[in-house]
Amino acid sequence: MEPWIRALLILLLLPTLAEARLRHYNFEVVMKNYTRLCSTKAIATVNGKFPGPTLHAREGDNVVVKVINNINYNLTIHWHGIRQLRTGWSDGPAYITQCPIIPGQNYLYNFTITGQRGTLFWHAHISWLRATLHGAIVILPKKGTPYPFPHPVNQKIIVLGEWWKADTEAVINEATKSGMPPNVSDSHTMNGHTGPVRNCSISTKGTYTLHVEQNKTYLLRIINAAINDELFFRIAGHKLTVVEVDASYTKPFITDTIYIAPGQTTNALLKADQSPERKYLIGMSSFMDSPVAVDNSTNYGLLRYKPSLGGSPFVLTAMPSLNATQAQRNFIHSLRSLNSKKYPAKVPLSIDHSLFFTMGVGVNPCATCLNGSKLVGNINNVTFVMPTISLLQAHYYNISGVFTDDFPGKPLISFDYTTVNYTGSLATMNGTKVYRLPFNATVQVVLQDTSIIAPESHPIHLHGTNFFVVGTGIGNYDATKDSINFNLVDPVERNTIDVPTGGWTVIRFLADNPGVWFMHCHLEVHTSWGLKMAFLIENGDGPNESIMAPPKDLPKC
Ligand code: C2O
Repeated sequence: MEPWIRALLILLLLPTLAEARLRHYNFEVVMKNYTRLCSTKAIATVNGKFPGPTLHAREGDNVVVKVINNINYNLTIHWHGIRQLRTGWSDGPAYITQCPIIPGQNYLYNFTITGQRGTLFWHAHISWLRATLHGAIVILPKKGTPYPFPHPVNQKIIVLGEWWKADTEAVINEATKSGMPPNVSDSHTMNGHTGPVRNCSISTKGTYTLHVEQNKTYLLRIINAAINDELFFRIAGHKLTVVEVDASYTKPFITDTIYIAPGQTTNALLKADQSPERKYLIGMSSFMDSPVAVDNSTNYGLLRYKPSLGGSPFVLTAMPSLNATQAQRNFIHSLRSLNSKKYPAKVPLSIDHSLFFTMGVGVNPCATCLNGSKLVGNINNVTFVMPTISLLQAHYYNISGVFTDDFPGKPLISFDYTTVNYTGSLATMNGTKVYRLPFNATVQVVLQDTSIIAPESHPIHLHGTNFFVVGTGIGNYDATKDSINFNLVDPVERNTIDVPTGGWTVIRFLADNPGVWFMHCHLEVHTSWGLKMAFLIENGDGPNESIMAPPKDLPKC
């Protein structure tokens, strides 16, 4: 090549290498009929698709999504795991950062993806609409930046979900009225498919199929978009190498079972190194090690090699049992931050705010409910009551009477949290309380499950920031004994982590994102019951340390 042509090419290419792009998406939310399990119902979809369209971007890009509400429900969309630095107005949880988009209206979500790469997902964040309103977010590394693992030939998105034959809004409304737990789903879904065997007919038409070529390596982007089910995922005959969770790189580790809670995402390399003369089952099944567990049946997809040979025999896989605590714990304990020079784990080492949050379910009186009482979720015995305008607006415009900033930093009464013979009151207090943090405070939160009704696992999700998981264990957290074993070197960085059944998990984060950030259990049933709270992070004094002004089209309540 002539030197001047090369120089010209470099000049032409430079801006695309360095500059971030603007990515524009149109999300029109419409009802559409879908048939699953031999029955048809209208579901809320983005652009008619279930699961919804994938949002593609690169680290550093500015993403603008026009959400058009053409259904008869109030709506918001949340970009789960996107940090939303100073752009809380685009985060999406209804009544936390915005009022809902009412039917017939639009809202432009506008955010920049900073310091994140990998897989996340978007979902509706109001009532139970996320049952069908969800889809993948794929964030590629910056141009010219390779993955810190062997480059895969291809990538496949696998969205795991749940399907109800009934209307899910009716399911949660019914449960709220009665005060009782909502019905469990009728099936799991794999990229929207309910699988081969479902009472009505046996066919492979409703089965998700992953096509691979022998000896090639694929990057699987696995997303748990289920409403209430923590899941195991396996591919018969194949091992998976986990390289990333919640859009943070991990030290690669090889496993045959992936554990994934609602709100979590996992990237894993799959090497197609088996015989192409067979078909391999892909299994997804529930994990629930609480004594109050209800099972949902296992769903299967298929892995097939190309070219495929007709009539090839199946290779089966046995899924872990419903209460396979050890399989869950093994997976969680294997996760470590990559913690390389380029991607260091910036774990806060000194702590300004040391918090202790208990979480569980209680019972409050309810005159109109079935038994005169209702189940409620709580953190530190506070059941969160949704405000009628968003907390972020109330904070930004100094509107009083919407929330109080007295969320307790520890339980008001302490007791043996994991005892099965709890004799105290089952009642909780109601409140719209936030915990206030100064800009750049370092925070540690011990998340402790209680057994007041029954011990249960809670995938806790924090908006607006990732956290490091420095420790986890079973039983009551013991500050002196347990803090000695914290991993402060390469703990996994995530946005959603399980508080184990009858146990505890300790997270640390830096409060460097001003705004109001929701924290809640990502089992939607528990969120609906009030297992949620919010952190208010104050503005800093620096030029880029304040929340941006709200957009003009911010929906009104
Ligand atoms: Cu994925 Cu507040 O949620």
